[in-house]
Amino acid sequence: MSIQKIAVIGGGTMGNGIAHVAAMAGFSVTLVDISDAALERALGTITKNLTRMVSKEKITEADKEATLGRLTTSTSLEAIAPEADLIIEAVNENFELKKKIFQTLDAAARPETILASNTSSISITKLAGVTKRPDKVIGMHFFNPVPVMKLVEIVRGLETSDEVYAAIEQLSRDFKKVPVPVNDSPGFVSNRVLMPMINEAIFCVYEGVGTPEHVDEVMKLGMAHPMGPLRLADFIGLDVCLDILNVLYEGFRDPKYRPCPLLVKMVDAGKLGDKSGSGFYDYA
Ligand code: CAA
Repeated sequence: MSIQKIAVIGGGTMGNGIAHVAAMAGFSVTLVDISDAALERALGTITKNLTRMVSKEKITEADKEATLGRLTTSTSLEAIAPEADLIIEAVNENFELKKKIFQTLDAAARPETILASNTSSISITKLAGVTKRPDKVIGMHFFNPVPVMKLVEIVRGLETSDEVYAAIEQLSRDFKKVPVPVNDSPGFVSNRVLMPMINEAIFCVYEGVGTPEHVDEVMKLGMAHPMGPLRLADFIGLDVCLDILNVLYEGFRDPKYRPCPLLVKMVDAGKLGDKSGSGFYDYA
């Protein structure tokens, strides 16, 4: 199973990060989004992050140019699918949207092409079930910021083949990441452990136990977390946190995963964290 050409669907925070590491690792990468404006923004972010790596002397100017030279863009799933050996979907956490994309890719890609999803909580088995190649569907869950974070949580669906798992494990190492296999289950391991901590931190604010600053100080200084849970929630996106908590709550039917009412209220108010300019903190 030789992977040379990779397509990444979605140029948002995760998609542009995945395209960045794939191109830097020497793969030929096509980034796909719905508009030229979105693709321009994504390429702008990749260029900015590569420039930052040059200024920190992690890569050379020549590495940066070579990486950018391996990146192309497209607005058509049907056009890029036949060319790709691996397609990594990184669009919003919306099952209906992912379903449509997986069905389109399944129809247009060669039978041997692997379809991966960067989903942070949607069932890989369910996504695989909308295709005619469930053995070639797998989760590749990256972490933000993708160029920095070492982990790829590799999620095996019920029918993911050993051969596909082995190819994706090797690819993650080629990306200079550390692959960790997990089975398909709500929130996988990462978000099953992370989101209850974030939710509990929000309950601490909701119940007046501490201010966001104080809760975050406790976890940064007492537990050596690089960011406190509320700063991290803003960074991830409060809407994303709420979606994942709902997946856990519905998946396990256990009240311990119930989203804090303050989180629900903030999302209703459009306070989504960094991306909206305010959340538990202001980002004017
Ligand atoms: N691209 C490339 N490099 C980047 C970068 C990016 N987008 N963002 C940061 N960096 C680099 C910086 O250049 C810097 O490099 P040096 O160490 O060589 O100086 C390094 O990363 C650290 O950055 P900063 O000095 O700017 O800031 P920092 O020390 O505060 O670290 C951080 C920033 C890496 C984000 C750190 O705060 C951190 O690790 N936070 C936790 C992040 C986390 O938990 N992410 C997972 C979220 S969950 C998720 O993504 C998945 C999900 O399903 C919800």
